[in-house]
Amino acid sequence: MGGVKIAVSGKGGAGKTTLAAALIRAYAATHRRVYAVDADPDASLALALGIPPETAVEIRPVVDLREQMRRVMGGEGEFFALNPPLGEVLDEFCFRLGNILLIRMGELKKGGTSCYCRENAFLNAVLTALLLERDEVVVMDMPAGIEHLSRGTARGVDVLLVVAEPNQRSIHTGRLVEGLAADLGIPRVAVVGNKIQSPEDGALVRTAFPGRVLALLPFDRAAYRGEGDLGVEFVAAVAGIKEMLDKERVS
Ligand SMILES: Nc1ncnc2c1ncn2[C@@H]1O[C@H](COP(=O)(O)OP(=O)(O)O)[C@@H](O)[C@H]1O
Ligand SMILES: [Mg+2]
Repeated sequence: MGGVKIAVSGKGGAGKTTLAAALIRAYAATHRRVYAVDADPDASLALALGIPPETAVEIRPVVDLREQMRRVMGGEGEFFALNPPLGEVLDEFCFRLGNILLIRMGELKKGGTSCYCRENAFLNAVLTALLLERDEVVVMDMPAGIEHLSRGTARGVDVLLVVAEPNQRSIHTGRLVEGLAADLGIPRVAVVGNKIQSPEDGALVRTAFPGRVLALLPFDRAAYRGEGDLGVEFVAAVAGIKEMLDKERVS
C-alpha cells in the first residue's frame, strides 16, 4: 500500500495530537515506516507517542536541523542546495521510535527579515521533500492556523482532518480551518468529531458540518488522562478512519 499524506488540524484542545498519534500507531502497524510531523509549536506529539518527557525535550526542531544539515552537506550561503540532498539525508535527522520517524518542525518565524525567510524556506523544503517527493505515509499534527503549509506543500496533502469537539467554539474554528484548507486547494477535507459522549454530541457535530463528518470518536478516559493505551472503542474508531481513507485512495 502506498503513501498517504494526512494533516490533522482544528482548535487547540480539540484532540489533534491525540488523533494524530493514534493514526500514526495504526499506520505503523501496517506500513514499513511512518513519518510523524509535529508542526504544532506546543510540541506534544512526541509525548502522545509515548516518548518520555526527558527524551522528548531533546528532540531538536527542524530549524536547528538546518545548521546541522548545512554542516553535513557542506553547503554555504543563502541558496545552498536543498534538493535532492535534503531528501537523502532527512531520515538521519528524524527521531526514531521503531518504524515511526518523528520530525519536529519548530515555530514558524514571523516578520520580514531575510534570516527568518531562510529558516521558513528551509521548513518549506523539508515539507516538500516529505510531501511531494516520497511515497510514504506522513501524518502531520498541525495548529489551527495550518500556516506551515504553503500553496506548494499543500499540493502534497491528500487529506486534512479537522478535529472538532461538540461545542460551538470548536465548531467555529473547525469551519475556519475548512476555509483555509479550501483556499490552499487541499483535495479532501473531512471532519472528525471528538470527545463524543452522547448521541446529542454526535448530532451537534453532524449538523454543524453536514455531510462532511468522516467519523466520531468517543470520549476516552485514558486519552483524557494522557495515558498511552487508549480504550478499545477509540482505537477501533481510529482504525475505521484509516480504513475509510485507504478505501478512498484505491477507488
Ligand atoms: N477522545 C478523547 N476523550 C477524552 N479526552 C480527550 C480525547 N481526545 C483528547 N482528549 C484530551 O483533551 C486534551 C487535548 O487533547 P490534544 O490531543 O492535546 O488536543 P490538541 O492537540 O488539539 O490541542 C488533552 O488533555 C487530551 O488528553
Ligand atoms: Mg496538540
